[in-house]
This record gives sequence, C-alpha cells and structure tokens, in this order.
Amino acid sequence: MTQPEIRFRTSQLEENDGPPVNPTDNRTMGEIIAARFSRRDFLRGSLAVSAIAATVSPLALVAADEARAAEVSAFKFDELEAGIDDKHHVAPGYDADVLLRWGDPLFTDSPEFDPAKQTAGAQARQFGYNNDYIGYIPIEGSDEHGLLVVNHEYTNPHLMFPGIVKIVDKDGKKAAEVAPLSKEQVDVEMAAHGGSIVEIRKEGGKWQVVRDGKLNRRIMSTTEMALSGPVAGHDRVKTNADPSGTKVFGTLNNCAGGVTPWGTYVMAEENIHGYFSGELPEGHKEAANYKRLGIPEGAYEWGAHYDRFNLAKEPNEPNRFGWVVEVDVNDPNSVPRKRTAMGRFKHEGAESIVTKDGRVAFYLGDDERFDYVYKFVTKGTFNPNDRAANMNLLDEGTLHVAKFAEDGSVEWMPIVFGEGPLTAENGFASQADVLIETRRAADLLGATKMDRPEDIQPNAGNGKVYVMLTNNFKRKADQVDAANPRAANAFGHIIEIVEDGGDCAATKGKWDVLLKCGDPSVADVGATFSTATTANGWFGMPDNCAVDSAGRLWVATDGQGPKATGRTDGLWAVDTEGAARATSKLFFRVPIGAEMCGPLFAPDDQTAFVAVQHPGDGGEDWEAFGRPSYYEDPSTRWPDFKPDMPVRPAVVAITKQGGGKIAV
Ligand code: FEO
Ligand code: CA
Ligand code: CA
Repeated sequence: MTQPEIRFRTSQLEENDGPPVNPTDNRTMGEIIAARFSRRDFLRGSLAVSAIAATVSPLALVAADEARAAEVSAFKFDELEAGIDDKHHVAPGYDADVLLRWGDPLFTDSPEFDPAKQTAGAQARQFGYNNDYIGYIPIEGSDEHGLLVVNHEYTNPHLMFPGIVKIVDKDGKKAAEVAPLSKEQVDVEMAAHGGSIVEIRKEGGKWQVVRDGKLNRRIMSTTEMALSGPVAGHDRVKTNADPSGTKVFGTLNNCAGGVTPWGTYVMAEENIHGYFSGELPEGHKEAANYKRLGIPEGAYEWGAHYDRFNLAKEPNEPNRFGWVVEVDVNDPNSVPRKRTAMGRFKHEGAESIVTKDGRVAFYLGDDERFDYVYKFVTKGTFNPNDRAANMNLLDEGTLHVAKFAEDGSVEWMPIVFGEGPLTAENGFASQADVLIETRRAADLLGATKMDRPEDIQPNAGNGKVYVMLTNNFKRKADQVDAANPRAANAFGHIIEIVEDGGDCAATKGKWDVLLKCGDPSVADVGATFSTATTANGWFGMPDNCAVDSAGRLWVATDGQGPKATGRTDGLWAVDTEGAARATSKLFFRVPIGAEMCGPLFAPDDQTAFVAVQHPGDGGEDWEAFGRPSYYEDPSTRWPDFKPDMPVRPAVVAITKQGGGKIAV
C-alpha cells in the first residue's frame, strides 16, 4: 500500500515546527541574556537547587514550598495539583463550567451540533473550532452582561471528521492528517475558522449564552472584509476577484487578539502560510517575501478547491493575510477591516494601553523562532467620549520593532519608509511595501531575534509590559550552558519591560527577565521560579496571558504534556512584585492534548474565562494513562458521541463557589 504523503500543520505542532525563516545575523534574545547574566550567577543558581535536592526529601521540599508560597504569594487560593488526564481541573473551591463548545448554537435558528451531519451552513450558525483569544465587551457597562468575542484559530480535521486519519512519523513524535478532505469538509473547515461574537449574561451566578442576542455574529474565512490603511489598493494586493485591492474574503488563523479602548474586537492573523499551496510563476517578484513567511506550507487542502489559495493561480492572495483585523461589534453587518498600518507577519496578539498623551499603543508578537517583538502607536488620540471618532485610529500610526541591549535597555525602532535602510535601495518604494514585508524591514533595522514571541500584555496598573516567549528549540548551543543546550529555550521565558517614564508611547525602556520557565528541581534546566514555587507551580511554554484588575499576571501555556513536562497545559498565577516575584501557582489545567488559551478576567474579577483548544490532539499522549484514544480510530470516533465528552474545544467560565473575586 502506498504510504500517503505526510503533511504537518505548523500551527498545531507544539514546536511550531516550520523551519526558521529569519535569514539575518541579528542577535537573538538568548545571546543577549547569556551576555547579560554572568556564567557565575547561572552556576550559583544551579548549585543552590542541587544542594537542596541532595539533603532534603522531595516530599519535605514540597511541604516547605507550600508553606512559603502561602506566606508570600499575592494569590490566596489553594493550589491545584499538576497532572495528566482527560478532564479539566480547577483549584479547590471553584467551579469550572463549560460555557461554549465547538458546534454550540449561537442563534435561534442554529441547528444543534451533530458531528455526523456537519455542513458549512450549520457551522456558520454555530460556535467555531479551536477557540484561542477571548475578550469581553460590556453591554451598558455591565460586569454580568456583555459580548464574548472569541477567535477560532485553526481546524484539526482528524478530530472533527470521521474517516480522516491521523498518523505519526517514524520518530513517533509529529502527527499529521492524511488528506485529501472533501470539498464539503474544506467548506466546514473554512466556516469553523474566524471568530464568534456572542452575547452572554450571568444569571444566578452562572453565565448563559443569549441565543437571540442581536449582536451575535460569526466571522469566517469567507466573510467580506476591507483592506484599509497604507496597503489598501496597492498593486501587490490586487487579485482577479478583487482588482481594487481593497476587498478581502475572510480572515485566517486568528490566534490571540485584543479589545480596543473604544470597544472593538481585534483579531491577529498568525500562521497564514499553511493555507497556501501551489507554486508561484517562475521568477515571481513575491518569491522572497513569501519565503520569509514560509509560504506556501500547503498544510490545508483549500488550494485544491479554491483558486485563491493556489499560488500558481492567484499569486498576490497571501499578501492579503497576516494582518490585524478590527471588527465593530456594535453592528453585526459591519465590514471588518484589515488594519495594514500594524504590519504583516505572524501576528500573535494585539493587546493595547492608552499612552500618557492619549494615543494608544498595541503590543504585537511575531510567533516564529528568531522573529520579533513589535509595538504600534496610533497617530491620533483616543476619545473616550466619542466612539465614532476612534473608529479609524488604527489606520495611521507608527509601527516599531524592539532591539534589546545587554545593558537592560530596549529601543523601539520605527518602521518607516525612507528612514534608515527602508529605502528604494533595499527594494521599498513606499510605506505599503515596507508593511507588506514587515519582517524584512525589521531584519534591516537589526531587531533582536526572539524565542517565539507570543502574547504581550501591558499592565495598566503598574505600566509594565509582559512578553511571553514560548520556546525555541533551534537556538544554538553556544547561547546557553554547553551541557544543557535546550535548557533555556525548551521551556521559554517571560520578559518584563518598563517603558521610559512609564509611558507606552516611549521609544526606549528597560527590560528584565521575569522568569525562565521549566522544572526548577532539575538544576540543568536553569529555571528561575522563586523557591516558594511548589512542585505544582512551575510551568513551561508560556503562550497567552492576562492581567487581572488587581494588576496581577496569569500565564497560560501551550506545549506541555507527558513528554515535555509531565503535566498538561494550564493557567498559572504568577507574582511579579516584592518578595514573591517569580512565584507561580497552578489554578487550572486542561485535558490531555489541549493547549490553554484565553485567559480573560471579567471586569469585576469574579470570572476567569479560559479557552481549551484542541483537547485530545496528540494520540500518542493517551498511552500515558493506559487506554487508546477514541480520537484515533475513525470508525469509533463518533458513534458513541455524547455532548459532554472532552473532545470539543470549549470556553470554560471559572467562578468561585459562593461568589466573589477569583483570587483576593
Ligand atoms: Fe497561535 Fe502563537 O500561538
Ligand atoms: Ca498563542
Ligand atoms: Ca499557541
């Protein structure tokens, strides 16, 4: 039997396992950290951990650590035990209720979810797949009645459809779906992407979906959108379907995002390369541009059914993706706008903060090994009294890219046509050219190559900015202790930035490492959690994050599991200030195979919304608890389907039993 071709979807592999595509010699963050923190300090930390481990039993260590965590941590909840199974778990004293699952009806006319009868039409009226970003936009200022906005990042056909087989490569590590999907299945996938806008209300202490909510809406990869800002109408974004270069159908791979101060929903387009297949015409002028983004990856079958995803037929289409999309949630018929001034790359998120002079700064990660951290600052100022006046703020402003220096300073370098190397000499004829090839512009500016920048969260409470760097398996050995070449980059780290004057419009600031992640009881890992962090409290692979209204940091992870860390992904509360700094406590964990997204705190801090994405993905993981996965065998996948099986990506609402703030 012929072995089918194995294809990988970058976005669903824990390593985000495309080849690094940054060709420059710009310095990596790892090189700079290594230079900044002396080898002596690193060894001292390692030896300290080893010495404790040698003289104290592990159980005694855990007991002592729990006592210390209770003493110093700002988070007063009883910590959850880390582990692995097929359920989600929350810390004692809390309820974790499923609010929305893939396929749940969002409108009064929506069909009930039936996995055996999926159609694009049904999916268009139901909650989409693989929920990532969660935002809350209050209705009339309410903490208990609002719009939940949720991104649907990508699709896992082997978990969605009977008959699509998932296979594992010869190393037993990487999994892929075997294609081809039918056109009908591709259409379901296209409808399952995008986002959901859903009215929700808290009644009797529990959140409910309002199915007849007038603002409920599905955004999909077929929804009509406008290109706006400097790239709109440019020749490089014109296609046969859109000779004007201003009208795009759909949004792809919406990972994290944000809610603007004026109450719109922004969706970040991340791993867009997977959707494109085919070959550019020989010598095509976009070849280098696409190579820098890994286009085409050909992980989806969409190009077989729709010409616009086939580079041979529609070579400009990829330039119409990789942007930040803004949606006016107050009008369910509004045309979402791709805000090209914010750059084109693998956008992770778009969290924002009002600057001292009333402009708005958006922090933007480019999630690829050796890629960059960006900040966009609007030209105009935010008007809190006139929503309409803010509606095009994202079309004008300055995009910056970060350069981190060994002395603990960070410089935000403007990405502006005509400045520095961003000139005709380097192939740029306009700001539109610069924005279409944002990565190359940042390369030329000498930005710092990071370990996969994910969510970046400004903290309005203290003016600090937290940067999640999830991991980088490809960092060179000489960037860390030679005996542990993966120590620093296998588990990721978190950078803290303090902008000059506490103003996020600043073009300079200071940075520090808040945390190097991984198991601190293994000296070689070099993790830097506080010693008050318990055996349950450490984590690896920081991805999404949130700040609660008390200004405290919560970190969600992506990529743990039996092989990586021996625990599932989850949500950890992380102290950032005082003696407890870098103490972490486990609050929630996901079923095996899932990553933890969201997270989001309701404005009154009485609910934590979390997104459980792709539960059950990674069949090999299921062997860890001694039974085969029912995801793996297509013949048994759905016949015993029950709605409460932990197989559907879901938004979970966490509340304290008896009410009150999540963590005081
Ligand atoms: Fe979609 Fe970078 O995670
Ligand atoms: Ca992410
Ligand atoms: Ca992720």
